Amino acid sequence: MARIVGGIATSHIPAIGKAIAQGIQQQPYWKPFFDGYHPVHTWLEKEQPDVVVVIYNDHGLNFFLDKMPTFAVGAADEYRNADEGWGLPVSLPFAGYPAMSWHLIESLIQEEFDLTTCQEMLVDHAFVVPMTLLWPDRRPIRTIPIAINTVQFPLPTPARCFKLGKAIGRAIESFGEDHRVVIIGSGGMSHQLDGERAGFINKKFDITCLDQIVDDAAALTQMSVAELVLMAGVQGVELLNWLVMRGAMTGGVSEKHRNYHVPISNTAAAVMILENGTALAG
Ligand code: DHB
Ligand code: FE
Repeated sequence: MARIVGGIATSHIPAIGKAIAQGIQQQPYWKPFFDGYHPVHTWLEKEQPDVVVVIYNDHGLNFFLDKMPTFAVGAADEYRNADEGWGLPVSLPFAGYPAMSWHLIESLIQEEFDLTTCQEMLVDHAFVVPMTLLWPDRRPIRTIPIAINTVQFPLPTPARCFKLGKAIGRAIESFGEDHRVVIIGSGGMSHQLDGERAGFINKKFDITCLDQIVDDAAALTQMSVAELVLMAGVQGVELLNWLVMRGAMTGGVSEKHRNYHVPISNTAAAVMILENGTALAG
């Protein structure tokens, strides 16, 4: 049976991908940020996951405002990246795992989540930057992208995203093949890139989120989308991806590592490892 070994929440700011491409991780601006990933590499080395489910938001590469699914699941053999105009190198394709994707899709639709299924799907920086941060040497690992609409209002509520995560957790652990699965929650933390509050960062709220996502995620699910926008900024609603990831943890959750660093570009950056303990009964 497939087992979820843990979840990793990480920022996906395009400038990070550029810094990796330029090899400037040791420069003073970047060092405190990239140093936060060494414990993540050690943890991944220990846990040896072979499938990664990436919960992210597409920013206009595969979906645009004309057609925006609330929840979309990839079911392709491979996922290509393309130039979004950020000046990042186009990444090599990522291997998919259609058999497991379809198992997830069957299971989620059975649980009354109405999904868009994607047998072709371009993946943007919100997928590629976390993958590059976590596996800088492009270790072969199969991927399943799940895109959450955090861009075109109305957005799914925090409570709905958490429930989707729970259903994803059940679906993964009912897959018959033996796998060690890690779930990425991509994005955040607080940021707003445009409008009157451009540059908005809310450190106090971010720290509360980092604390609550470990042992009181239910509190975060009480928020409305409007409250989340107010507290985290319009783009800070990417926290919804973290809530899906957290919902997918099927056991007792323990925090193994966190690093919070402000700012990278216009955004509060963070990485966190949540280890998934033994499944709880019921
Ligand atoms: C930035 C942050 C994002 O989440 C994103 O998708 C693009 C840019 C930024 O801070 O530059
Ligand atoms: Fe983003």
